[in-house]
Amino acid sequence: MITGGAGFIGSHVVRLFVNKYPDYNIINLDKLTYAGNLANLRDIENCPNYKFVRADICDFDEMLRIMRQHHIDGIIHLAAESHVDRSILDPFTFARTNVMGTLSLLQAAKIAWEESPEGFEGKLFYHISTDEVYGALELTHPEGTDSPFTTTASSAHHHYAFGTEFFLETTKYNPHSPYSASKAASDHFVRAYHDTYGMPTLITNCSNNYGPYQFPEKLIPLFINNIRQRKPLPVYGKGENVRDWLFVEDHARAIDLIFHKGKPAQTYNIGGFNEWKNIDLIKVIIKTVDRLLGNPEGYSDELITYVTDRKGHDMRYAIDSRKLQSELGWEPSLQFEEGIEKTVRWYLDNQDWVDNITNGDYQAYYENMYKNR
Ligand code: NAD
Ligand code: TYD
Repeated sequence: MITGGAGFIGSHVVRLFVNKYPDYNIINLDKLTYAGNLANLRDIENCPNYKFVRADICDFDEMLRIMRQHHIDGIIHLAAESHVDRSILDPFTFARTNVMGTLSLLQAAKIAWEESPEGFEGKLFYHISTDEVYGALELTHPEGTDSPFTTTASSAHHHYAFGTEFFLETTKYNPHSPYSASKAASDHFVRAYHDTYGMPTLITNCSNNYGPYQFPEKLIPLFINNIRQRKPLPVYGKGENVRDWLFVEDHARAIDLIFHKGKPAQTYNIGGFNEWKNIDLIKVIIKTVDRLLGNPEGYSDELITYVTDRKGHDMRYAIDSRKLQSELGWEPSLQFEEGIEKTVRWYLDNQDWVDNITNGDYQAYYENMYKNR
């Protein structure tokens, strides 16, 4: 069972599993909040090994019923509220879904698995978390320096680090936003179910993802869409914050590998050693969109608009994923320039998808967010 499979990352995980494992019965459990969209899965929705179940992870009785009815032996848990700006406006929803929802799923899995003949044998609760639980790193090299790490895909194109520290699996949790606090709390519950009840659990903490089907409230799809519509590009603060970007299909491949080969009770960090300062990333996006739309170079630069910074804006995230690389042999497959090109093309070719979800409700939220900042 994959939870949150109608969302951005979940839909890529569902697609990969449905296509790669015809012998598995794959259940996609999703509440279909504003972020869930079954249009993300049109290409596989009629596959015989796939079933969609609409349910809320906070509904414990329903989770237990579904666990028992479908004899679920593995869970990849992605369902969550995922946007930092929304968590600043509405922290309760984040505590409810990310903390209480994860807890109700854990408890339902525990009961259903304990009553099965094999108990916990052959079972796995795999929880998808974020690097944001580790807090923020310092920007000790604001202009960027050569990264101490390489991957086959990172090549000579862009290879910077903006500080000397990286998040390791052993880095102490230090979340700052209501979003990261709720993810951290859920991670603690997942570990508690292993340590207290012996339930086989596993956690991965991944850096920022980008690619097709990401809801256009997040930086990359929002900016592609705004450039297309010649709307302002709201850069928070000075645009100096640093994020570590990974193409979503590389994350899905890592999840597949870890689900099958990862060791229970372990944590793996997932990232591609691909740090970008927001403003530099934004310039790459503008250049790519302008080129693909046939606009002259520099045409959309004037859309850049510096706005009030996000409250409590974490300065830098940078993942050290050497454990995953050395223990399980995972590497990102795409260079960032290729990934961005693919992503921009996808959004420009799928304008109906974007227009359908940026409906009236979303517009009202978006305008309200700026009033409340
Ligand atoms: P998303 O917001 O695109 O999708 C979340 C999905 O969860 C949606 O389909 C939504 O309908 C579903 N959902 C929300 N509340 C639910 C509930 N109560 N019951 C059932 N389903 C519910 O999120 P995403 O970006 O795909 O992130 C997926 C997971 O990966 C999250 O746990 C997130 O914390 C984690 N993560 C995301 C990133 C990133 O860059 N996007 C990076 C690292 C980790
Ligand atoms: P986001 O995609 O929201 O991911 P996260 O906050 O989880 O890292 O934002 C990525 C970066 O871009 C982050 O530093 C905030 C910044 N940002 C903007 O400058 N403007 C925007 O409109 C958005 C959505 C984000």
